[in-house]
Amino acid sequence: MLIDLLRKRRSVRRFDGRPVEEEKIETLIEAVLRSPSSRGLHPWEFVVVRDREMLSRLAQAKPHGASFIKNAPLAIAVCADPAKCDVWVEDCSIAAILLHLAATDLGLGSCWVQIRLREHGDGRMAQEYVADLLGLPQGMEVETAQVGTGTLKWTELTPVQNPAQYYIINSLAALPMKRVTQAALMEGRAILRAMGARVIE
Ligand SMILES: Cc1cc2nc3c(=O)[nH]c(=O)nc-3n(C[C@H](O)[C@H](O)[C@H](O)COP(=O)(O)O)c2cc1C
Repeated sequence: MLIDLLRKRRSVRRFDGRPVEEEKIETLIEAVLRSPSSRGLHPWEFVVVRDREMLSRLAQAKPHGASFIKNAPLAIAVCADPAKCDVWVEDCSIAAILLHLAATDLGLGSCWVQIRLREHGDGRMAQEYVADLLGLPQGMEVETAQVGTGTLKWTELTPVQNPAQYYIINSLAALPMKRVTQAALMEGRAILRAMGARVIE
């Protein structure tokens, strides 16, 4: 069930040093290549980095929130050619979250490292730094670098970050929700209530 996967998913930034098995890397690649994209234009490209020196340099892409890449067994940079599609950011984000979920499903920890719009720190943007480092063709953008590992250390289910963002409006007639059965709605409401969600009666 997808909900079980979503309950397990966390951003993982600590790694045990074990390499990621080849088959798992292939599955991750397959997962991202199956991502939907606007008009099926597939503007993305994925760069799998396993070289330790390269990982150390990727970890310096920005002053905060990237350093843990140096201890990861691999990173996958999600890049795109904006000339191929005007909504490449959306396309990349979808691929990135599918990668994150596929990693979770494979028992790998991973974390999104934001590259687009972040500063590297020497006047360059993190995107320029990473593009130079990876030798990307002119014009290619880097949205995010995801890291993966062989570690699986789930100690708790993912907490709901902000239950106040969840609402249930209990008037089916008033909403375009007629496809949702009453039973499913009741069950969903009980779960959300248990999480502390506000239920609007
Ligand atoms: C668009 C986006 C950018 C993020 N950028 C970073 C980042 O640069 N570094 C980092 O350590 N975590 C990053 N994260 C992970 C978030 O910090 C994390 O998802 C959030 O704290 C919630 O924790 P959880 O994923 O374990 O539920 C990013 C997540 C998203 C969705």
